Amino acid sequence: MLETGLAFGGDYTPEQWPEEVWAQDIALMRQAGVNLVSLGMFNWALLEPQPGRYTFEWLDRVLDLLHAAGIRVDLGTPSAAPPPWFARLHPGARLVDRAGHALGQGGRQSFCPNSPEYAAASANIADQLGRRYGDHPALSLWHVHNEFAGVNPHCYCDTCAQAFRRWLRAKHGDLAALNAAWGTAFWGQRYGDWAEIEPPRLAPTAVNPAQQLDYLRFSSDTHLANFRRERDVLRGYSPGVPITTNFMIANCKWLDYWKWAAEVDIVANDHYLASEREDRHVELAMCADLTRSLAGGGSWLLMEHSTSAVNWQPRNIAKRPGELARNSMAHVARGADGVLFFQWRASRFGAEKFHSAMLPQAGTGTRIWREVTDLGARLAGLGGLRGTRVAADVAVVWDWEAWWALELEWRPSQDVTFRERVEAYYARLWEAHLTVDFVHPEAGLGRYPLVVVPSLYLTTPATAKNLEAYVTGGGTLLVSYFSGIVDANDTVPGGPYPGALRDLLGVTVEEFLPLRAGERVTLSDGSAADVWAEDVHPAGAETVLSYVDGPAPAGPAVTRNARGRGAAWYVSTRLGGADLARLLERVYADAGLSARPALPATVELVRRPPYVVAINHGTAPAEVRGATVAAGAVLVLRDEP
Ligand code: GAL
Repeated sequence: MLETGLAFGGDYTPEQWPEEVWAQDIALMRQAGVNLVSLGMFNWALLEPQPGRYTFEWLDRVLDLLHAAGIRVDLGTPSAAPPPWFARLHPGARLVDRAGHALGQGGRQSFCPNSPEYAAASANIADQLGRRYGDHPALSLWHVHNEFAGVNPHCYCDTCAQAFRRWLRAKHGDLAALNAAWGTAFWGQRYGDWAEIEPPRLAPTAVNPAQQLDYLRFSSDTHLANFRRERDVLRGYSPGVPITTNFMIANCKWLDYWKWAAEVDIVANDHYLASEREDRHVELAMCADLTRSLAGGGSWLLMEHSTSAVNWQPRNIAKRPGELARNSMAHVARGADGVLFFQWRASRFGAEKFHSAMLPQAGTGTRIWREVTDLGARLAGLGGLRGTRVAADVAVVWDWEAWWALELEWRPSQDVTFRERVEAYYARLWEAHLTVDFVHPEAGLGRYPLVVVPSLYLTTPATAKNLEAYVTGGGTLLVSYFSGIVDANDTVPGGPYPGALRDLLGVTVEEFLPLRAGERVTLSDGSAADVWAEDVHPAGAETVLSYVDGPAPAGPAVTRNARGRGAAWYVSTRLGGADLARLLERVYADAGLSARPALPATVELVRRPPYVVAINHGTAPAEVRGATVAAGAVLVLRDEP
């Protein structure tokens, strides 16, 4: 990272251009205020054209040019794009899908993440880079790989099967323990020899869910081991230089980033808008909050986002005037200490030529270029934000394992998904101007007046204990349906649902009552809900709202259980929009969160003391703390209440 100020720049691909363009690039970077570029992530074949033959000279010149211009470098290792010779020499290192097909080359990341040949070759090229550039004065940050598990999250080849067995031995110890954990008495799956265990390959019917969960854990750990290997090689050459890799919080379900975050020196994230969504800026805010939370509330880096359209969505919607600044500043408001784009200059060839860039195909006489240079100038004046911490109001529990488990096959309703509930609650909190920290289910919660648990299907006993301690200590907890259902092995703990949270919530659930597609139920306050209902029985909790119709008429729909010095709310159905917002107002009051800024819901207000950032997503000017924020504009103010 930079020593001072906020970072600004993007992915630089000089390898796609003749050398005479480089000088122009660097002059334009200076004009735009670029102070950090990411370099080299896909250059393996260009740096090692044959095994053991290296051609670093061109990259030396790039680094020297950047250094002479005062531009710092985030230097990538190229292990996400093994060269064609690697696949030819090592056919056994191909990525194999669930159906047993070996996937082809011609793209990137098409390799088996457990391949020993890949491990050796990627460690070697990292070693060569470390040796050559470890003390280069332009080097500011190491960037290992690119988006681990982006397109090869799981491989099902025989090498992976062997590695899986080793991982299982380390985790379970012996086969008896594995058989018990996986519940292999079901469908007669009992294993008598480790060699009988396979990855969860494509099978004619549902594969053991505990086996699948362990495979997902194993795969996340596999990629993490690949990160660590390269990181440790680089560390030896440049002990003081931070090492990171770019997470993809919004689009990657498959890495347990809580574990990953502990292994990087600075958390970095790539974020691309779901460009067709009206509420895309709310999804952006959620991802930025999650990234900051992974960083423990401290500094993080927006490693990639786009100046305008991407090229890989069904319809790639261009950003509207001002959206680039609003997006960038929303990341900064939520803790980013730098804003980088994919990419510096638009490619003329290859799969991403229709992707936007800081320097578009149409050059510098463009709106995008003007907005880029404006942003560079603005960020240069906001160096004081660097290192300041975001003030959050509420915690939302986020857990990758619970996400994986909830969305395996053969659940009561395919309409129940993890992200949907998190986003529904997050959006209401966003509109209420409450800033969210995401927390691991076992994290300390005491400093939050309110904790929201959206569909935490997999709930360990340790999590249940943590939530219990939070509530009895005075916290207000809100739990959404289909939480507390199974343990870490996808096993129901016994007794009525929601096993792990039954006592805390003061309810039992006799039966899940998923609704038909399009079916709606009415609650006693007139709210309409869909997707899910339950046959809830109070066991200590008071009923706040009941079902008026649907499969559980007159039964409790929303409950509140006073417990110790706090309270645990339970919402057994899918509420959204204004109905959910109305319910949440009651919960906010319970949590002492009633006093909030009187602003239109479309104004995003985030405190990074001693600053506050106001982003007006609406179409009318708004008054914020005595200042006017024009429609579509962003203001950074000193945080004087
Ligand atoms: C990212 C990736 C970049 C580029 C970008 C396009 O996921 O890291 O290399 O492909 O997407 O949006």
